[in-house]
Amino acid sequence: MALIAPSVPIPAEHQTSLRLGVLASGSGSNFEAVVAACRRGDLRAEVVSLVVNNPDCGATVRAGRLGVPCTVINHRHFVSREALDEALIAHFTPLAVDLLVMAGWMRIVSPLLCRSFRDRMVNIHPALLPAFRGTRAIERALAAGVTITGCTAHLVEEVVDGGRILCQAAVVVQPDDTPASLAPRIHAVEHRILPSAIALAGQLLTRAEA
Ligand code: GAR
Repeated sequence: MALIAPSVPIPAEHQTSLRLGVLASGSGSNFEAVVAACRRGDLRAEVVSLVVNNPDCGATVRAGRLGVPCTVINHRHFVSREALDEALIAHFTPLAVDLLVMAGWMRIVSPLLCRSFRDRMVNIHPALLPAFRGTRAIERALAAGVTITGCTAHLVEEVVDGGRILCQAAVVVQPDDTPASLAPRIHAVEHRILPSAIALAGQLLTRAEA
């Protein structure tokens, strides 16, 4: 059972049209969910570029299948977080993206990137923030014995997993759950709330600019 709030997504006709850049490190299921929401018309946006830091990650395969331009910016080739983030800014700025979406981007972002994309970066996290910030959130929630967990889509700020919460969904933990059994149920609701959170971030941006 999952409980999603807010339950009423912004209708597409009331959404601001957005150009999105997506960052991914892993399988890319959230990236695909965002592309699918755009193509269904639920999210008035276009993913103009996917950047991955792991050349062989699943997200690259999905990008190929979906026909989304994919660029590898491998963090291992940079001397610091700032240098990596400078390369990301140099990549996304000419593409005129409105928002950056961290869809399983497993790098801590530097203040430089936070400043460049203030209020314009959305992250998805597999826990009910502010609980279980950081890595291995699903494992740590289970180890803590919680009976309800979930996921959070939020704006990115300098504090890791600490920005303004946009959408959350709760997932009931079953007594016999393992990380392997719980993770797919959390992923399923991530795929539903991330597009809603992007639409909301777009609305907040438009209001701030008005
Ligand atoms: C998602 O569960 C996302 O919440 C998590 O990585 C997974 C990526 O899955 N992100 C974090 O843990 C960031 N702190 P995906 O590659 O299939 O979208």
